[in-house]
This record gives sequence, C-alpha cells and structure tokens, in this order.
Amino acid sequence: MAKKINFDKKVNRIGSDSIKFANLDKRYGSHDIIPMWVADMDFLSAKEIRKALKKRVKKGVFGYPYNDKSIYNSIYSWQERRYGWKIKKGSISLASGVVNSIAFLIQAFSKVGDNIIIQSPVYQPFARTIKENERKVSRNSLVLKNGKYEIDFKDFQKRAKDAKIFILCNPHNPTGKVFSKKELLKLAEICLKNNVLIISDEIHSDFLYDDKKHIPIALLSKHISKKTITLNAPSKSFNIAGLMTSYVICEDKKLEAIYKNYLKKFELMDNNIFGTLALKIAYKSCEEWMDETVEYLQKNRDFAINFIKNEIPLLKVIKPEATYLLWIDFRKIGLKPSELEKFLITKAKIGLNNGLIYGKEGSGFARLNFGTQRNILKIALENLKQSINDFIV
Ligand SMILES: Cc1ncc(COP(=O)(O)O)c(C=O)c1O
Repeated sequence: MAKKINFDKKVNRIGSDSIKFANLDKRYGSHDIIPMWVADMDFLSAKEIRKALKKRVKKGVFGYPYNDKSIYNSIYSWQERRYGWKIKKGSISLASGVVNSIAFLIQAFSKVGDNIIIQSPVYQPFARTIKENERKVSRNSLVLKNGKYEIDFKDFQKRAKDAKIFILCNPHNPTGKVFSKKELLKLAEICLKNNVLIISDEIHSDFLYDDKKHIPIALLSKHISKKTITLNAPSKSFNIAGLMTSYVICEDKKLEAIYKNYLKKFELMDNNIFGTLALKIAYKSCEEWMDETVEYLQKNRDFAINFIKNEIPLLKVIKPEATYLLWIDFRKIGLKPSELEKFLITKAKIGLNNGLIYGKEGSGFARLNFGTQRNILKIALENLKQSINDFIV
C-alpha cells in the first residue's frame, strides 16, 4: 500500500486549545518542555474528517441533533470488520466521553460503599470516579514478571466475592498489555460466578502491534455479554478526543434499561453533532489512515525501545503490545519516586505522566506518549539520556 500521510511533518499545536500544549509555563515552570503526557497524538486528523467537518460548519445551523441509522451502522460495521464482533442490533448508545460513561455506570449499577475492582497500575480516572462516587477501590494489582504484566487470579477471585463491578481496561493503559483470550475467559468466569458486572473500556483497541489481536470480552460468549457493558470511541484512534464522542455497547436488555433509565433521570442523552459526524466518517472512510498511523507508531515504539536499551540501559521499558504509551521503569537510577517527575521536567525537559498517579504499583515509573513525530521523540530521548548520564556520574 502506498503511503499517503507524512507523519514526520511537524504540526503546530500551540493555539489549538490543546490541554497538552497550553500553559506549559504554568504547568512546568518553563515553556521549553516537550509535553508527552495526556493521551492524544500530535498528528493532524484524517483529511476526510477535516473535510466533512468543514462542510458541516458551512451549513451554519447547529441545532439539536438527530442521529440517523448511518451513525450506528458505521459502529456495527467497524466492530465487525476490526474484531469480528457482530453486535446485536439496537445495543449501541452514543455517549460523550468514556470516563463520563464510567461514572454514570458506577452510579447506575452500584451503591455507596460497594467494592469496584480495577487492575492497577491503571488509567487514573478509574480510581478517581470510584472514590468520587463514594464506592471503594478494590485493587487487583497486576504483577510484573520478566518484563510482562500478569494477572493475580487468586487475588482477583478473592476480591470478586464482595465486589459489584469490575472495570477492565483492555488494551491496558498504561502498561500496553493486550489481554489474551485465556485471561479474559478466566476473568469473565470469575465475574459471572460472583455476579460482578464487567465494564470493559476498550478505547485503545485500534492500536495493536505485531500480531496482537483485540478481543472484546463480550464477544467471548452470550453469558459473558449478558454481564458486560463495553465502552469504545473513535477519539483515540482518529485523534479527535476534543469532540467528546464515544459509545456504549450493551447487548443485555435488562442492563440496558437500567443504564438508559439512569441517563433519562438526569437528562444525559445528548450528544454532539460534530463528534457523531466525525465518528461516522472515521469508521466509514478512514481505515487506511488508521492502519498507516499504527504502522508509524509501531516504528516509534521500536525506535524508543531500542534507544533506551542501547543508550540508557539503566531504564527498563515494558514493550507495549498496544496503545501509544510507553511505561518506563526508572527505579534503577536511584531517584526517590517523589522526585522523578521534577527531575524529568527540570533536567530532561520532558513532561511525562508520573507513574504514581496510576496507583502505588506505578511508583518509580513514568508514562511516555510516543504519538508524536519521530524527530521529537528522538530529541526527548536524547534529553533523557543526557539528564540521566549527568545524574549518575
Ligand atoms: C483507558 C482510557 N479510557 C478512557 C479515556 C478517556 O476517554 P474519554 O476522553 O472518552 O473520556 C482514556 C484517555 O486517555 C483512556 O486511556
């Protein structure tokens, strides 16, 4: 396939209302920082999406939306084409953000004081929404063995006995783990046995490397699907997170009714005309863009891993099987975990996510977003190498 997109071309994100690039001075005390934290990419979105949005803006009327079938059909078709999931018709609802939906689902399906299982280190809003809603975080910590994260099933089984919900993150942020069919079946079996609802956040499912396959947990069996609510979105895949559009897949009518009643009660059924248009165009017309993006990202991933292995051997990286996030183990350089973030900002001049925000299991780690131009990634890694060399002499 001939390459169409020049991902190496610098995109100026200053002035694009980007949380990653705004107020660098305020956030880091300097504007001379490469921000590599929040999970969006420094690439232009696909030209088909930009063209469709432009055309829509030209119409000049932006009243309340009506979502015709073509929007839902584009989601059914994407899920079937990409993952072989033939979703039962009528099982998809549009939503704003995935995190919003997680908060609504926690409210709709649990009570104050209930336990909710997460697999930390994990995307920080999981724990935050659980706590903010006065539920209890039950941490089934992932276990790092020979550079790979594994599930402690014994611990999961114990926790499932008195939990209401399990929030699965597959592929997993920040570790980049893709759960295998065997792992998913075992997790699901324990949840079913203990009547634990599975909320499966699959937002990173389009970024898969090497021969990895994404398996939606609800696809594994009818029984599992009856106990699962899946969340996904085009926002990461097509770099349109600011359009705040995602979707909820729930094939069980009883669960769906509970969720929909909750939304109705608080009038949370609206969505955004630009977001839904972008979703439809992305899923219908931008698959090649997606594939090319993943190809470029895989090269970024390999570049970063090789660079660190050869040039900064004190650091260890967890090779991501998915996502554009690199989970780096800094524990051998001899810094206190509480000092790591400041070191990275002031000495390496890069803005990463401090591993501690993902739970205590992230202590001594940091997350680097490699969804950027390769030369920027190279500069960031050279800075990192220099700062560590200076520190350890
Ligand atoms: C696992 C995971 N879920 C959800 C989100 C955010 O989704 P949304 O912007 O739709 O709330 C992110 C963003 O980084 C994420 O990594």
